[in-house]
Amino acid sequence: MLNLPRIRANFPALSLLDAGQARVYLDNPGGTQVAQQVVDRMTHYLVHNNANHDGAFRTSRESDVIQAAAHSAMADLLNAAAPAEIIFGQNMTSLTFAMSRSLAQGWQAGDELVVTRLDHDGNIAPWLAVAADRGMTVKWLDVDVEDCTLQTEQLQQLLTPRTRLVAVGYASNAVGTVNPIAQIAAQVHAAGALLFVDAVQWVAHGPTDVQALGADLLACSAYKFFGPHQGVLWGRQALLEQLPAYKVRPASAKPPGKFETGTQSHEGLAGVLGAVDYFEWLGAQEGGAHAAQFKQLHGRRHTLCCGLAAIQAYERTLSHQLIEGLQRIRGVHVYGITDAQQFAERVATVSFTLAGYTPRQVAEALGAQNIFVWDGNYYAVEVVERLGLSQSGGMVRVGAVHYNTPQEIERVLQAVEDLAAARKP
Ligand SMILES: Cc1ncc(COP(=O)(O)O)c(C=O)c1O
Repeated sequence: MLNLPRIRANFPALSLLDAGQARVYLDNPGGTQVAQQVVDRMTHYLVHNNANHDGAFRTSRESDVIQAAAHSAMADLLNAAAPAEIIFGQNMTSLTFAMSRSLAQGWQAGDELVVTRLDHDGNIAPWLAVAADRGMTVKWLDVDVEDCTLQTEQLQQLLTPRTRLVAVGYASNAVGTVNPIAQIAAQVHAAGALLFVDAVQWVAHGPTDVQALGADLLACSAYKFFGPHQGVLWGRQALLEQLPAYKVRPASAKPPGKFETGTQSHEGLAGVLGAVDYFEWLGAQEGGAHAAQFKQLHGRRHTLCCGLAAIQAYERTLSHQLIEGLQRIRGVHVYGITDAQQFAERVATVSFTLAGYTPRQVAEALGAQNIFVWDGNYYAVEVVERLGLSQSGGMVRVGAVHYNTPQEIERVLQAVEDLAAARKP
């Protein structure tokens, strides 16, 4: 169990009241609340260091230091081999569109791409667009509608000598499934293709190790892990060096500079540093029980992994409470993995429908009680379509992170139960 009062005190937004009523933030897959370290870093940057980079004066040099520190911090969070493997940009979607165009320079008509029916459109549409531009073929890895896991056993049949890249999500923003990335990477590399991983919905929930995963490129977004609205892309250095970049001529010819177009959001980078500071603080406070598991690691990477492992263990208890509680309510259908034996393969992002109500009606009823949940398809259009829910408003999504309490989960369960009880026969 985490020390939740101490953790929650570190998030200013969590103590806000509206007409005396607490907020229950379960919209976390859409965006998490920010840690105090993030607020402090960003405010400090804007007040004390605000300048463009690469100048010969104090604030510009300080901005350079912040940029370098943010690259190093993200390298530690993702276990990149070097800070130069970290590219910052507007958000995951923009970075993925940009990277897809760079990659496509080396692709020909008749080459192939593989995308999945489980992914957020941010990891589908960019690949469909380059495929259309280049006359490439797109193949789809399907999802098992029973438990919303990827049909990875079919991947082998989709891979051919013409496959150039496979795009897959680490964790689903719609139904919480965690995909076996290392296994997928081995298959993709054996076929001679690249693997692009969308880790937007994973990084907040457990340790990320790009080297152990064996991916080639991996994108995430700091606003989904307690930081500011800031996109992050990791790529293997040799690959980044060799890829062409769409850049202005005076900009650096080397990664990461060649991919970081224009002036970066320096305050955003300061905020990313704050988010990593937060995980480090958490690891120091809460990670002791996991120290042995990561004994081969050192310094900040060790502390970060301990903190994220503590998060992962705690969130599993929330998955149990949420899924078992929802399944007990008459008329609720939970989508995705519901077998507790398989909870290692999901995060605490749980989507459901309630008979007699549209997902929007449920979200509105909960919203009226200051419980924030999402409804619809959350841009995971393909899986919602595969589940046959596109025409009926999608699902209601309750997305817990480690700052959520069992009492908050109880509140949402009670509110759904009240709705079920009030249903007209
Ligand atoms: C799984 C996943 N991928 C990609 C995105 C898009 O991220 P961004 O807003 O940084 O472009 C999201 C946003 O919800 C997401 O959940």
